Parts: sequence; C-alpha cells; structure tokens
Amino acid sequence: DVEQLQRHFDATIERDQRIEPRDWMPEGYRKTLVRQIAQHAHSEIIGMQPEGNWLTRAPSLRRKAILLAKVQDEAGHGLYLYSATETLGADRADLTGKLISSRQKYSSIFNYPTLNFADIGVIGWLVDGAAIVNQVPLCRSSYGPYARAMIRICKEESFHQRQGYELLMTMMRGTDEQQRMVQDATDRWWWPSLMMFGPPDGDSPNTQQSMAWGIKRHTNDELRQKFIDMTVPQADALGVSLPDAGLAWNDERGHYDFSEPDWTEFKRVLAGSGPCNAQRLERRRAAHEDGQWVRDAAAAHAAKQAERQTG
Ligand code: ACO
Repeated sequence: DVEQLQRHFDATIERDQRIEPRDWMPEGYRKTLVRQIAQHAHSEIIGMQPEGNWLTRAPSLRRKAILLAKVQDEAGHGLYLYSATETLGADRADLTGKLISSRQKYSSIFNYPTLNFADIGVIGWLVDGAAIVNQVPLCRSSYGPYARAMIRICKEESFHQRQGYELLMTMMRGTDEQQRMVQDATDRWWWPSLMMFGPPDGDSPNTQQSMAWGIKRHTNDELRQKFIDMTVPQADALGVSLPDAGLAWNDERGHYDFSEPDWTEFKRVLAGSGPCNAQRLERRRAAHEDGQWVRDAAAAHAAKQAERQTG
C-alpha cells in the first residue's frame, strides 16, 4: 500500500541512495523534479541564443570553432535533460509548448544582451562558472537520471568556463580598448550572474523541501557565497574589478562580504520584463514553427515503417 511505498521511498532518501524511474515516488517529488529539470533544459536551449548571436562575427576562425562547439554542447545538455524529464513521464513536446507559451521558466541570466565579443568570454567565466557551482552538487541529486546527466554536463561546463577565462586573459593582454571591453562586460554580467542562484533563502519557497528530498544539496545563498569566494581571486588574476563597493574579505566568517543584489530587477526579469525576454521567446517560438516540417516528416516516416511491419 501507499504507506509502505512511502516508507520505502523515505528510507532510500535517508540512506542517501538513488531513486530510479521505476521506483515509486511521491507526486510532489516527481512534480518538483519535472519543474526543475525542465527549467534547466529550457535554459540550455534558450542559452544558445545570446552566444549564437556572435557565431557569424567571431574575430578569428579559432574563436568561431570554439564558440560553435560550445553552442552545440548547450543543445546536447538540453537534450539529455529533456530525456531525464521523460523518465518521469513528462512529454518533451508538452514541455516545449509550456516554454513558448511562458508557462514554464528558464534561467533569468539568458534575458540579458551580448553587446560585444568580451561578453562571450565573460559568459564562459561568470555564467558557466556559476552554473558549475550550482550543478556540481546536482551530480549527487537523489534522482538517478538527473544526477547522471549532470556528470557529463559539468565536465563540458568546466571546459566552457576555461575557454571563457582564456579568451578574457588574451583580451587583457591586448589594447586598452580590449581591456575596457572586458571590464564593461564584467560590470554588466556580475549582478545577473549572482541572481542565477535564485532568490535569497528566506524567499525561496522550494529549497527546504527540495533539500529534504535530496534534489538540491545546498541552499541558494550557500552556493552564491561559494561562487563569490571562488571568483574574487579570479578577477584579481585577470586584472578586472567587480562592480560592488561592498565586496570585502571577512576574516571572522572566512568568506567575502558582498552587497545585496537588486531583487526587484530579478523579479522583473522573471515576470518577463527583462531586456531580452520577448526576443528570446519569439526566436524560440519561430524556430519551433520552422521545424514543423521536420516533425511532420518524422511522423510520416514512422507511420510508414509501422505500416510495413504490420502489412
Ligand atoms: N531564473 C529563473 N527562475 C528562477 C531563478 C533564476 N535564476 N531562480 C529561481 N527561479 C524560480 C524557481 O524556478 C521558482 O519558480 P517556480 O516555483 O515558479 O517554478 C522560483 O523562482 C522560486 O525559487 P526557488 O524556490 O529558489 O526555486 P528552486 O528551489 O527550484 O531553486 C534553482 C532555483 C537554484 C535555479 C534550482 O532550480 C536549480 O538548481 N536548477 C538547476 C540548475 C539550472 O536550472 N540552471 C540553469 C541555468 S545554468 C545554464 O543553463 C548554463
């Protein structure tokens, strides 16, 4: 009976073992996973746009090849993650429908524009850096298919982070103008990167339950702090400043203190009014509609194959 199944589920979580697709799970656990993994998948797919914007304008063949490979990796991440939701009974077409009709979210970070090529480096350094800090603990998430997908994703993200940092180091060895571009991009992406970790713990409705279920392993604020502690020395090594006068090492806490991000901006972006929300969704919708003939052809092919087999 359900009580017994619930006890077995609780004991599995308690022992820190994995829940697998065929195991019984509470409806809330399934729903939370579908929500988080779908949002994550959508972020990977929408995240192709800000960088795709620079594919045709990369300054060299080498930079173009690297960027192309990275954008393709993001598509792959989206596909693994949609597959993980399918093991929970979700339907990929349904999830895409929810994304393009704004019924499901994607990461706030991808609603900001990429204004110059230094943005490509800063996205690798800060955005992929933040993604790694958030996602490495998800390799130990309690749901097997999600945790396993995250292992490969994290390896690729770490390559992305390094290519970004290498690009920025190269620009910082360049002209004054190139150095100014890196500083400008850092100033614009710093705060949105901190917002990627989600609202402060006190305003995060899902954290407590998700931690109890072992879906999340750390709170939003813990991961934000970890990212800041890791990134300040990287900024120093690069020779850029971070746009926060309140940033200072706190010996007592053993962490950097920092100022409060502008949470009204975060809410505005989540509500759909960030600088690029409309454009990102419009592009995604158009790409989906342009792909209708591919879906039609695949369905016709599958029907023909099935007919041959039965006929
Ligand atoms: N952008 C958009 N929405 C966000 C963000 C964000 N940066 N942070 C939180 N939210 C949403 C949550 O999805 C939740 O929405 P919902 O309840 O309406 O579905 C709401 O704000 C409240 O937040 P939390 O209660 O803190 O939500 P949650 O426990 O899901 O934590 C977090 C948010 C940390 C983003 C978590 O979902 C997570 O770790 N996701 C996996 C990583 C991920 O999605 N990364 C995507 C960007 S990285 C990349 O693609 C390169």
